Amino acid sequence: MSHQNMKSSRFENFSVIGVISLVLILGSVVECGTPTSELNDFDYPAINCRKHSAILTDFGGVGDGKTSNTKAFKSAITNLSQYSNDGGAQLIVPPGKWLTGSFNLTSHFTLFLQKDAVILASQDESEWPQLPVLPSYGKGRDAVITDRWSSSLIFGTNLTDVVITGNNGTIDGQGSYWWNKFRKHQLKITRPNMIELMYSNQIQISNLTLVNSPAWFVHPIYSSDIIVNGLTILAPIDSPNTDGIDPDSCTNVRIEDNYIVSGDDCIAIKSGIDEYGIKVGKPSQQIIIRRLTCISPDSAMVALGSEMSGGIQDVRIEDITAINTESAVRIKTAVGRGGFVKDIFVKGMNLNTMKYVFWMTGDYKSHPDEGYDPKALPKISGINYRDVTAKNVTYAAKLEGISNDPFTRICISNATIEMNGQKKLPWNCTDVAGVTSNVSPKPCELLPEKEKLDCSFPSDKLPIENVQFKTCFYQSSVL
Ligand SMILES: *[C@@H]1O[C@H](CO)[C@@H](O)[C@H](O)[C@H]1NC(C)=O
Ligand SMILES: *[C@@H]1O[C@H](CO)[C@@H](O)[C@H](O)[C@H]1NC(C)=O
Ligand SMILES: *[C@@H]1O[C@H](CO)[C@@H](O)[C@H](O)[C@H]1NC(C)=O
Ligand SMILES: *[C@@H]1O[C@H](CO)[C@@H](O)[C@H](O)[C@H]1NC(C)=O
Ligand SMILES: *[C@@H]1O[C@H](CO)[C@@H](O)[C@H](O)[C@H]1NC(C)=O
Ligand SMILES: *[C@@H]1O[C@H](CO)[C@@H](O)[C@H](O)[C@H]1NC(C)=O
Ligand SMILES: *[C@@H]1O[C@H](CO)[C@@H](O)[C@H](O)[C@H]1NC(C)=O
Ligand SMILES: *[C@@H]1O[C@H](CO)[C@@H](O)[C@H](O)[C@H]1NC(C)=O
Repeated sequence: MSHQNMKSSRFENFSVIGVISLVLILGSVVECGTPTSELNDFDYPAINCRKHSAILTDFGGVGDGKTSNTKAFKSAITNLSQYSNDGGAQLIVPPGKWLTGSFNLTSHFTLFLQKDAVILASQDESEWPQLPVLPSYGKGRDAVITDRWSSSLIFGTNLTDVVITGNNGTIDGQGSYWWNKFRKHQLKITRPNMIELMYSNQIQISNLTLVNSPAWFVHPIYSSDIIVNGLTILAPIDSPNTDGIDPDSCTNVRIEDNYIVSGDDCIAIKSGIDEYGIKVGKPSQQIIIRRLTCISPDSAMVALGSEMSGGIQDVRIEDITAINTESAVRIKTAVGRGGFVKDIFVKGMNLNTMKYVFWMTGDYKSHPDEGYDPKALPKISGINYRDVTAKNVTYAAKLEGISNDPFTRICISNATIEMNGQKKLPWNCTDVAGVTSNVSPKPCELLPEKEKLDCSFPSDKLPIENVQFKTCFYQSSVL
């Protein structure tokens, strides 16, 4: 062992003995030849730094891509959880291929993946515990066992202050195993997500490459104070349900500088579904998304729903780019969902090769069961888009509200859309109301022109925007 943080803290109450022990330990390292783990010092940005450190190899980790490290992760994190109330701990995953099943995080904890560290998700189903289904979903979706759900690869519940970051290390979900079973209807249980944190706060997920999740990649649920930044998320564009980042019944979320190529929505903001989501009643709110680049030919850059029964409000989306993507910021809902989508602000979209620029869908059914209330109508209101440039577009807009439940206060300003000429009717609007200004081609009659109007975008900051990263250190050597 050659890392100082853990040693110095272990001995911090016994300084004299500490120094002596340290000398003895160093002596023994020299005596035994090569230390088990040798890493250079480095620093990295994080919401909180840690007093204690360890390396996965200290706990028997083997980075050959074949040996299971499920036990190593488990014993490392169990061991480091003793420092939760003593300055916290960071677990370093060094270069190598670390095969593992699902493991759980702890509070005041950082998982750091070095460059060339790859966490490989096991394809052995016995390495994935089953969890009770999420209360706001009521049912698992992929399979016949509907009251259980496979735990995610990296899971945490009831935690505070959790950081998953790295120097662009990789987490590979090896999802093809699950996608194939899903396509053949052979799954017994709903597929695992890659990273899922429940009932937690102060979360940072950053500076990593995430590839081939079995299902969704990053799924915080019933959580708050979340930063997701600097992720490269990659899945084949035909892979099933590989959503990038899905804040679900979450408050105060900042999602910045991410690059996502996916078979499903790049980002989907959710809050549970139908009678289950209505009962839990936890909205997703105070969310800012900036500088996203998305490629998703069959899905949205940012979807609001279709699970929105706890409500979605105060979402701010700025400076985003989509290429070869089905739609930009899309609303998906249905009769029976209840809930609301309101106060959505989008400013600055640069789009190229899109099926739809504006798309709202009021009959996105996909009900978990027949137990939904047909009188539970979603309220969709206050949806603002401004400063949009789009090229090579098939339909400018398909805005489809619900009869007797129109989508209202829609505002679109300063949008220039170059059509690709494949379809004659650029706009098709039903059951919607609102205004437009300086939009071409000419919008539908339900959204009449109002001169010199800029659709609103808030000028205040969300609390999460004031969170600054600290510079954290890993020191490998006492010499
Ligand atoms: C785990 O923590 C204890 C101190 O509580 C320490 O003695 C032990 O060496 C640690 N295990 C490993 C593998 O480092
Ligand atoms: C993680 O925690 C959950 C809930 O506490 C538990 O059911 C599950 O078995 C744990 N997973 C692992 C791999 O220990
Ligand atoms: C986690 O938090 C939720 C919501 O506060 C609570 O209902 C649940 O009992 C907690 N679980 C544990 C294991 O503490
Ligand atoms: C991280 O790695 C991915 C995959 O190799 C690469 O595309 C991306 O540019 C890298 N990001 C940074 C910031 O180096
Ligand atoms: C982490 O990602 C951010 C982009 O969100 C980037 O500005 C920063 O340089 C990255 N940090 C490291 C240590 O790679
Ligand atoms: C325009 O979009 C079509 C699909 O509608 C695509 O096949 C074509 O490559 C795009 N052209 C350019 C120049 O991006
Ligand atoms: C209109 O939107 C474009 C981006 O699409 C932006 O560059 C320009 O400044 C906007 N014009 C006004 C008057 O806001
Ligand atoms: C417009 O949308 C409505 C509702 O989805 C649909 O029924 C109708 O066929 C569409 N009209 C055209 C001309 O595509």
